[in-house]
This record gives sequence, structure tokens and C-alpha cells, in this order.
Amino acid sequence: MTSFDARRVRADVPLLRRKINGRPITYLDSGSSALTPRSVIEAMSRYYELRHANVHRGVYVTAEEATATYEGAREAVGRFINAPHPNDEIVFTKNTTEAFNLLARSWGAKNLTKSDAVVLSVMEHHANIVPWFQLRDEIGFEIRFLDVTDDFRLDLSNIDEALRGAKLLSLSSMSNVLGTINPIKELAAKAHQAGALVAVDAAQSVAHTPSDVTDLDVDFFCFSAHKMLGPTGIGVLYARRELLADMPPFLGGGGMIADVSTRGFTPAKGVARFEAGTPPIAEAAGLTAAVRYLEQLGMANVENHERELTADALQRIESHFGDQIRVIGPHNVDRRGGVISLDVEGVHPHDVAQVLDQFGVCVRPGHHCAKPLMKRFNLAATARASFGPYSMTQDTDTLLEALQRAVELFG
Ligand code: ALA
Repeated sequence: MTSFDARRVRADVPLLRRKINGRPITYLDSGSSALTPRSVIEAMSRYYELRHANVHRGVYVTAEEATATYEGAREAVGRFINAPHPNDEIVFTKNTTEAFNLLARSWGAKNLTKSDAVVLSVMEHHANIVPWFQLRDEIGFEIRFLDVTDDFRLDLSNIDEALRGAKLLSLSSMSNVLGTINPIKELAAKAHQAGALVAVDAAQSVAHTPSDVTDLDVDFFCFSAHKMLGPTGIGVLYARRELLADMPPFLGGGGMIADVSTRGFTPAKGVARFEAGTPPIAEAAGLTAAVRYLEQLGMANVENHERELTADALQRIESHFGDQIRVIGPHNVDRRGGVISLDVEGVHPHDVAQVLDQFGVCVRPGHHCAKPLMKRFNLAATARASFGPYSMTQDTDTLLEALQRAVELFG
């Protein structure tokens, strides 16, 4: 593929050929999980058909191929996010949530004391809140929350005060509810000046905008493969090499040790220390294929495509429904992604989602694992539509048609 063509991306995704309730599927739930292109499915099948073996153990041909497949994913991911030393900085986890649990249990437990502070924001996903609360409840450090403005931006009015004496600033690069894109590069510079490290929840942004940990100058970067056209069951924690080298293991078991005796153990050096047990090998093969696929599309092209779709959808929702449907997120597409949370007047988001399903439209209703944000805006839930690289204006057409029906039925 030489230039971006959403129609061709669509043709590459087998699931988009399905019909739901007699209508072609309109998949608007990529924020929950992005659909998988054929090349990703084939990469995983190839592993199982031709080189299924465990990694880092056998010396026979397929075992060495399996190891090369698994370690190749580290290189691919490193390239994708511009990590300078992939072999020493990319840790495979189960998902973004596990990446944050690892960060808290390893770096956090070693470095945070009662007198420290961690800065989060009200728009964080629970994955970047609950592990810090769990650790706080054991150690006793302070957790500070940056607020969100009434127009759905990060409230930076007291950022200097929030960072004073903090050890970590941990923020989402793009809100999974609002679509808001946060100014990570500027905030990372501020945090570093204040002496704090920076962790990024990139789960929502990684498949929709270019990622460059070197340019952003961040210390930790967490994301999941399944949100970037890859398989479920594998996620990533990027940790800057010198920080990772000093982090203790989180899970213990096979593969993460240098030595074990009846007196104790010595952990392995490097990333292996964090990957106890048989890792997600087929999933790593799928992740490499997903990275290659996105690289071929070009992340800047994906970003432009989704920005155009989002601007068009926001404008049409507003002009068609006026006050009947409120978009819970910024209207200006310059600093927002393709996640569109809707509050339909007088209609519960679950009812909205059920009517949409009759039209084959897949959206996510609920609190989106972001309860502090829901409370900030006095909402119990929203119905969230979210785009992927295979999305097209025809998806918005069907969304509007189905929303019109929901408004007629319940409004
Ligand atoms: N974190 C995913 C979402 O926002 C599941 O939907």
C-alpha cells in the first residue's frame, strides 16, 4: 500500500464483511478494541502452523524460530514508538492495565515513600488510577488529581503546585471518553524540571496518532496491542533503559531468573526479569504484523483520516440533533481524537446502544472505566462511538440514522 485508502483497509479486515441484524456491520467501537486485518490473523496462524515452540529454551530449529519471532516483536514495537534501545526497554505484558500494575508494583513500590506524591488526572482510565490507590493504601503516599475544565481539557491552572515535590506524573495521552489529546511533551518537560518522572497511558492514542517516546521525552509508555489492530493478550510497558535496569521484578517464576537455589533467587537482567512464565508468543507475532500494517498505512495518514471523519461526524451530529444530543468532549478536532461520547437527552446510553445494535451499529455504552471523569460531569454513562483506520463516512451515515431512531423511540 503506497498511500492511505480506508476502503482498502476495510477490505483487509474480514470481520467487516459480517452482517448484524440483516445490515452490514458498522463498527464504531475501536476505542474498546480495534478490528484485526487478515495479515495479523495470518501471522498468528503461521506461528501455530509452522513454528509453534516455547521461547528462550529449546535449541531445535522451530524453538529458535519462535524465539526470533518473539524477540522480533520487541524490535518492531521499539521502532514504532521510537524507543532507542528496544531490547532493554520494551516489556511485554498482558495489556495496558498489567503494564500499569507492573509499573506501580515494581518502580512504584521501590521508589515511593510515605512523603511522596503521584500526580494523575480526573480523566484517567481506572488502569492508571486503581494500581496507584492500591499501592498508596500500603505505602501511604499522596495522590493528586489534575482537574478537567468545563470544555473538557486538562486543567493546567495549578500544574506547578501539583508537581511540587511529586515523584511521578502519570497521564493519558488521549482520553478514552472525551477524545481529548493531552500536551504530553510540554507536560513531560515541566514534570522533569520539577524532578518528577513521566508515565503515559497511550492505550487510546497509539493506533491513531504517531508515537515517539524519544521526542516526547517520557519515562514510561503503556499500551495494548488489541487497540492497534493487533491481538488481545499482549500489551507493552516501555521503560527508559536506566530506569528499567533498576526496577525489581513483579511476577516471579520461570524465565525471569539468573539463578535459584534453596536459599533464594537472583533475577535475570534486562526485560526478561519482567516476563515470568511462557509469554504471549503467537500474540507477539500478531503484534509485529499489526505494527507493519500501521507502518505501511503511515500513522500521520491514519491521524488525518480520522480527524476528517471526526470533524464531519461532530458537525453532523450537532447540526442534525442540536440540543437533543450532547457531545461529551471537545469540538475542535485539533487536539482531540476520534472518540465521540454522546449524551442523548432523556435516553439511557444502554437503550441508545441497543437501538443502534438493531442497525448493526456497535458502540460502547457505560462509564468506560473512567468513573472520576463521569462524576466530574454528573454523568452515569455515555454512548461512545470511536473510529479506526477502516472507518468511513458511511459509518457516520448509519450512526446518524440509528441515533434518529433512538431519539424518536425514547425522546
Ligand atoms: N479501555 C477500553 C475502552 O475504553 C476497553 O473502551
